[in-house]
Amino acid sequence: MKAIHLSDDLALPAEDLLESAIGIIAKRGRGKSGAIKVLMEELTRVGLPFVAFDPVGILWGIRSSFDGKGPGLPVLVIGGEHGDIQLDRKAGAKVAQRIIAENVSCVIDFSEEPKAAYREFVRDFAHELFRRNDTPRLVILEEAPELVPQRVMVDRSETYEAVERLVSRGRNKGVGVVLVSQRAATINKDVLTQVDALLVMGLTSPQDRKALGDWIDAWDVKKQAEKFDKGLAGLRVQEAWFWSPEAFGGIFKRVRIRNFTTFHPDKTHLRRMGWLKVRPVTADVAGVVAGFKGEKPKKEEDVDEKEREQYEDRIKGLETKTHDALERARAADARVDELARMLKEANARAEANAKAAEIPPEHMVAEAVRVVERGKTPGERERVDLHVTRETPNLTLHVREVRVEATTEDTKGRVALLIAEGFFDAPKTATALRNELRARGWGQWIGGAAHTNALITMRQFAEWGFLREDDKSFQLVPEAKERVRVLKEKVAA
Ligand SMILES: Nc1ncnc2c1ncn2[C@@H]1O[C@H](COP(=O)(O)OP(=O)(O)O)[C@@H](O)[C@H]1O
Ligand SMILES: [Mg+2]
Repeated sequence: MKAIHLSDDLALPAEDLLESAIGIIAKRGRGKSGAIKVLMEELTRVGLPFVAFDPVGILWGIRSSFDGKGPGLPVLVIGGEHGDIQLDRKAGAKVAQRIIAENVSCVIDFSEEPKAAYREFVRDFAHELFRRNDTPRLVILEEAPELVPQRVMVDRSETYEAVERLVSRGRNKGVGVVLVSQRAATINKDVLTQVDALLVMGLTSPQDRKALGDWIDAWDVKKQAEKFDKGLAGLRVQEAWFWSPEAFGGIFKRVRIRNFTTFHPDKTHLRRMGWLKVRPVTADVAGVVAGFKGEKPKKEEDVDEKEREQYEDRIKGLETKTHDALERARAADARVDELARMLKEANARAEANAKAAEIPPEHMVAEAVRVVERGKTPGERERVDLHVTRETPNLTLHVREVRVEATTEDTKGRVALLIAEGFFDAPKTATALRNELRARGWGQWIGGAAHTNALITMRQFAEWGFLREDDKSFQLVPEAKERVRVLKEKVAA
């Protein structure tokens, strides 16, 4: 049987590998892409197909020799700067069909596409592959958390489902999946626990090691777990733990991934190899200017013209602002007039109400009116009054900008009444309020959530500025007390 040599001492049966699900997890720069590169080289060597999805734009390098100067391996590249074929983000299903028909190995490069295109394409591709694949094939997904994140957003659930299905049931269709992730914590746990094997390279964050713990728990292989966890932080580039509790006959081994032999256009790598040349800056600025053909050179009078335009724009802006401010001032004046009129009306009503004494207390009216008076010191400009009078069964609260309608048949009305009667002169809890309402025979209001309703209502009055909450107890605010008393006198009159 053909074997895939990821390292000198790790040989995996190629056909098994092609139908397995494998997770590759490591911090940035520890050799994930390098390991995939080796995997791709090995599969090409034994003549088995893969499709590698690359959002970064590195894997196309397999087409060139190590130094990038000669030819590499026969792999189709779709998308990116070096693609043989342009990428169409809507063509996921079609590309899957072509790949199955031609049985070609392929890199699909999304480095010039937005992330949404990656998710959309993989969704359609995975769906079609699951339907139509007939011979073994390995799908490699770089940046897997983009596709199967721990937290699946509603609008991304189709991508999640398509990939999850490939991982959990791809084997039946001859599809193996490699999920590559920088974090164990951000890749979806339900998906991660389904992989047959893990290749874990350097990983230091405690959350990531904890997330790997779920995988270990799922396999119930505690004995090896400790050794595994302890070894993770100290792994160097290309060093890894390979762990397959059941697949490949059961392997738990520390390995060093072999060097790739094709071009790896990763910046770190190019710098390391001394291939990232620094270009000296040009001194020929005039030459560069001449090179900008079609661009109009900047002239003196243009500068003046531009400045004049800028001033004109600014003056226009200021004019608009002045106009807006005037409009706002006029609107504020109108509002003050309206409030004054409302106050006058309310006062007239209150006076009329005060005269009508025969109506029973349950039908008293409580009114709170926000008064804005002009010309007083700033602190006195806003005042809230609570008027309690006897007349109609309607209770109306005008508080700040909020107008609240309530009757003595509902909570707000009754609590307003209690405030007027002095119930809240001493602090009261929700229980006390509930009991008081019960005692008054307002039982139809006391439902199952009476306590909560009492609390909510008191908080409402606190928000309006009548009550103050202190450790779940509510008391009349001193400023409001003065006004309520006056009104109580009116009621009594
Ligand atoms: N198998 C390998 N053979 C040779 N060099 C490697 C290998 N794996 C990693 N490297 C080196 O380490 C660098 C970072 O590895 P890379 O695989 O790109 O990291 P990442 O985990 O972020 O994908 C590479 O640019 C390369 O220089
Ligand atoms: Mg990488």
